[in-house]
Amino acid sequence: MSRRLLVTHALPYANGPLHLGHMLGYIQTDIWVRAQRMMGNEVHFVAADDAHGTPIMLAAEKAGMTPEAFIAGIREGHEADFADFKFSFDHYHTTHSNENRELASLIYTRLRDSGYIAKRSIKQLFDPEKQMFLPDRYIKGVCPNCGTPDQYGDNCEHCGATYAPTDLINPYSVMSGATPVLRDSEHYFFELSKFEGLLRDWFAGKFTHGKPVANSGVAAKLREWLDGGLKDWDISRDAPYFGFPIPDAPGKFFYVWLDAPVGYLASFKALCDQTGLKFDDFLGPDSTAEMHHFIGKDIINFHGLFWPAMLHGANFRTPTALHVNGYLTVNGAKMSKSRGTFIQARTYLDAGLHPEFLRYYFATMLSDAPVDVDLDLKAFEERVNSHLIGKWVNIASRTAGLLHKHFNGQLAAVLDPDTLAYYTRKSEEVVDSCVILYEVGEFAASMRLIMQLADEINARIAQAAPWALAKNENQHQELHQICSLAINVFRLLTVLLKPVLPATAAAAERFLGIADQNFEDAKHPLLNHRINAFEPLLTRIDPKHIEAMVEASKESLGSSGETVVAPVKKSKEAGKSMSEKPGPAISVSASHATAVIGIDDFAKLDLRIGKVTACEFVDGSDKLLRFELDAGPLGTRQIFSGIRAAYGEPEKLVGRNVVFIANLAPRKMRFGLSEGMILSAGDGGSDLFLLDADSGVTAGATVK
Ligand code: 2FM
Ligand code: ZN
Repeated sequence: MSRRLLVTHALPYANGPLHLGHMLGYIQTDIWVRAQRMMGNEVHFVAADDAHGTPIMLAAEKAGMTPEAFIAGIREGHEADFADFKFSFDHYHTTHSNENRELASLIYTRLRDSGYIAKRSIKQLFDPEKQMFLPDRYIKGVCPNCGTPDQYGDNCEHCGATYAPTDLINPYSVMSGATPVLRDSEHYFFELSKFEGLLRDWFAGKFTHGKPVANSGVAAKLREWLDGGLKDWDISRDAPYFGFPIPDAPGKFFYVWLDAPVGYLASFKALCDQTGLKFDDFLGPDSTAEMHHFIGKDIINFHGLFWPAMLHGANFRTPTALHVNGYLTVNGAKMSKSRGTFIQARTYLDAGLHPEFLRYYFATMLSDAPVDVDLDLKAFEERVNSHLIGKWVNIASRTAGLLHKHFNGQLAAVLDPDTLAYYTRKSEEVVDSCVILYEVGEFAASMRLIMQLADEINARIAQAAPWALAKNENQHQELHQICSLAINVFRLLTVLLKPVLPATAAAAERFLGIADQNFEDAKHPLLNHRINAFEPLLTRIDPKHIEAMVEASKESLGSSGETVVAPVKKSKEAGKSMSEKPGPAISVSASHATAVIGIDDFAKLDLRIGKVTACEFVDGSDKLLRFELDAGPLGTRQIFSGIRAAYGEPEKLVGRNVVFIANLAPRKMRFGLSEGMILSAGDGGSDLFLLDADSGVTAGATVK
């Protein structure tokens, strides 16, 4: 009987574009989902944007938009990226939806009515200028342990100490720079400590017929937290807050992490409403369906402690399993904007790289354990070219032509006994092994088996030398056998690679004259079957595309005022990150960020006046404007500047006398050479103001 599965992946925050770090977990989930479907299981794959919280509220404010309009724009970008990377969601939703409001309120009221919610007054730092309570990550100050300045309110990035924001020396608000004051506020707590027994039962597999709910390392971490004692969880936040109001508490809102996982259920609820599926079949306390959550290792505590307890306390079923992935590094190091390795999903695609190449590379690196994965760009290029084109596609490209030329594209009606026995044994062995490996998330091992078989058949083709057999009419039966076997093994590999390379596998199926193949289908060879003409399925990666991607990822640094930065997953111990992280548009006030320099340092800058002779939007960039400056004795300069959000009518800048750095090393950008940097003031985004000189100043004049 087929299993019924509800599958989710962690919801991306609606505060910025997706980067390749996000793609790691999402690709892992999509491969698993597609493999489950090919095993014949009923799968419902849902996700949503995680749209609430302080960072998003402030990012919207900074962009001069309502939070609703802001998150709608971000969602559009996320959905476009997901579609282009071939994610097979059955439904994509947002946590800012009626379904989520209703479900979050229902869960809360059930928890409250069962006696799991407590009210307590707490003291919290308040920004007197912004008139709001400050989450820990919006307070900075001197580390009380080692004295390093500019450390966040929850831990020191220099010495690793953790502390309360009130422990910081000389604290300041990241938003206004003001000194925060302590204020009392009533908060609502979910009494997690009442669920210790439930959580121990859940870890022990009481609800999953003894099957582990997580990889052993993850389960050990969860047990460690449990043994250390469970603390009640603060689920309320004071206004102003972008989220759902708590039903019985005016001025209080659900903390974003309360309604975020409920977003899984809301997305599924919307799907049920569209399709007639029964929500309770999957979520009811006695559901026999499975619920799988794919998450990053930084959010294990939410999914392994709070979430099962919330579900159980509100009379819903608990999760079947958590599938946890590690962080992404690029070229062996944390993703870095200066090295051009902080790569957005869209930048990867815009560089002309095939989305399925990244899916394949990640598949070769992924296992069930939450270990970090390195995207080594050289290895990426070599592995994709060697495995996918050199090994897999090559099987078809070297035999299809011969089949067409000598047998009208028709595969042999019968395979000779040895060949048939080989195919039957191999296909059973490899399909059965790969199905198990896909099931348990050991994709790297699955890819190894697939490529071993590709090597084996390529060696067999080389040994049989069909191109030589073709020259002799007497050997045409042998030729037909080896080409038919080769095409059958190509088909077998295609089916096995299908969860990883859905679009390319579909193209390969069209070439083979078959459709919608499942794993079991591949155990039966195609005989007396006509294939279509072979067309190249994939093109090798040209290293120039990788260089272009890295270059484009550096783009934002060269242009003044660039602030678009995707949220960085902090590499801290799993599960400790429970605070709200500032989103992309938050900048530290300059007074806290500058160091003292000598006059000699200042003198190194050649600051000049440039008269704007042309200014225009840049095709393919939503951040840049292209300037042409008359720089007097220095000639004409072209400069790309990241101030588009602040100046929607570039032609109006013509005639302005802007200040620019004339001796900055020229930078080659995707759009052309940038010969300097134009100065502006402000925090970024739409909050940028060009510096210019009064009329009468001459082009190229020095600024002192
Ligand atoms: O860490 C994050 O990016 C969160 N937005 C994940 C939420 S997952 C779920 F709980 F909604
Ligand atoms: Zn410190």
